[in-house]
Amino acid sequence: SLCTAGSNIFASVRENSPVGQFISHISIRSDPGANTVRLCLTGPNANWFYLEGRTIRLNSSASRVLDREVLGPFLIAELTCYEDDIKQSHYRILVEILNENDNKPKFLEETIQPFSISEVNSVVFTVKAVDSDGDMISYFIDQSSDAWFFRIDLPNSGKVVLSKPLDYESRTRLQIIMWAQESNTEEKFNISTVLTIDIEDVDDQYPHFLPCTPVSPRVPICMNPTYTANITGKQQDSVLEFSPGPIRARDGDRGINAPLMYTILSDNHGRFVMDNRTGEIQVEDRLKYSVATVVVRVLSENSFPPVFNATTFKGFIIQSSSPASIVSTYGNQVLQVQVSDQDFSDQGVNPNIRFLLHPPSRLYQVTQEGVLIARTDQLRAFDRHILQQVVARDEESGEEASASVDIEVLQRGQAQQLFGDVDSRLAGGIAALILLMFLSAFLFLLLRF
Ligand SMILES: *[C@@H]1O[C@H](CO)[C@@H](O)[C@H](O)[C@H]1NC(C)=O
Ligand SMILES: *[C@@H]1O[C@H](CO)[C@@H](O)[C@H](O)[C@H]1NC(C)=O
Ligand SMILES: *[C@@H]1O[C@H](CO)[C@@H](O)[C@H](O)[C@H]1NC(C)=O
Ligand SMILES: *[C@@H]1O[C@H](CO)[C@@H](O)[C@H](O)[C@H]1NC(C)=O
Ligand SMILES: *[C@@H]1O[C@H](CO)[C@@H](O)[C@H](O)[C@H]1NC(C)=O
Repeated sequence: SLCTAGSNIFASVRENSPVGQFISHISIRSDPGANTVRLCLTGPNANWFYLEGRTIRLNSSASRVLDREVLGPFLIAELTCYEDDIKQSHYRILVEILNENDNKPKFLEETIQPFSISEVNSVVFTVKAVDSDGDMISYFIDQSSDAWFFRIDLPNSGKVVLSKPLDYESRTRLQIIMWAQESNTEEKFNISTVLTIDIEDVDDQYPHFLPCTPVSPRVPICMNPTYTANITGKQQDSVLEFSPGPIRARDGDRGINAPLMYTILSDNHGRFVMDNRTGEIQVEDRLKYSVATVVVRVLSENSFPPVFNATTFKGFIIQSSSPASIVSTYGNQVLQVQVSDQDFSDQGVNPNIRFLLHPPSRLYQVTQEGVLIARTDQLRAFDRHILQQVVARDEESGEEASASVDIEVLQRGQAQQLFGDVDSRLAGGIAALILLMFLSAFLFLLLRF
């Protein structure tokens, strides 16, 4: 038979080949059409071929390209040979479509949706791209944008790990550009996508008291303020006013703002109470706390100014060559200027009083006990000195009182006339006292100058 000597056909053709591309010879004995021989293509993919004598060619067109990704890897057809319309032989045709890299990788939409990760997470996410040509894909992160937060462990995995801790308090959203690229092809087709990652706040920050003073412009850690309030001893059941005030704290986790509870950690005598809803220790996590110092200055209640018990104090001093002596009263006692302050029940003694001479004198000093000391060797007998203002100043309230001191400078003999022989024992006593005072005054002056 003219139809004999053929065989099943196994061939291959490149994907996207043009129309007329040679597929295979048919090895039958006679040319079809020459005699009564007729060839016929049938089967599922028969319309992908046409016959040209004893040659099978590809039947494609611009609008019908040979696409392996659509058709699958093989074309299957059958060839039947008729002689005088009688079927003489039957052959199978199997043509493999050789893959061409005609597709770019594509990210799977579901793997590149915006998503959130917790700021204390070290976990990872995975992006996935596919390539219709079945090519291998490598992933990498574009070095622009927020790439430095992430890295890819294995280039072919698409698994992204954190390379740097996240911090909601500094960034709440990150964006990275991911590339997927063919790794086993010459063309190395690629594709990119922008990934949006929202950071979720986690309760990881300590609360801090307000106002927040950053440790430095670069270190955003708050230094807690010291709150100060002044009260007087008589205040009771009153709300203290603090400076800076009021006492307030804020959760460091801006996105969470956990409720805060305030408590006094130490208060020596339990004199203060604090409303726990307007202060600071986190309710859920008592390990997250912040401590601020509160200073309450208890001021003595001040209703009365200090008062001198005389407007003018009178005294004398005996001229001598000693550098310093104490001014005495005519009652032969040490002259001591004194004030009383009715705010103080203890005999009106205000411990905060300080004496000073105004204007300061070259010849006299006043001690903190109100005793006046003269530079005896610089005085002239018969002189009279009036110290216009001895000032008593309450160092706490700042209140002042003043009095004057009238001092006569006597000669040694004059003192004897004044006190007479009767008082000689007393005068001796004065002399001894003055000597004693002189010693202490000398020490005082030594310290002072
Ligand atoms: C070639 O393909 C076209 C388009 O599908 C079809 O109309 C035609 O019949 C095919 N030719 C053969 C010989 O099968
Ligand atoms: C992606 O492919 C384009 C060409 O299509 C090329 O210009 C570009 O450099 C490639 N990108 C990367 C990251 O390889
Ligand atoms: C408390 O008193 C001091 C002086 O006694 C004053 O400097 C300070 O401002 C006062 N503080 C407040 C909060 O009133
Ligand atoms: C806060 O104080 C109130 C009233 O003193 C008390 O009932 C409540 O238990 C306190 N809350 C906490 C969390 O200690
Ligand atoms: C002033 O008061 C003190 C004590 O309170 C007293 O010792 C002194 O004698 C008084 N002086 C005068 C001038 O009243």
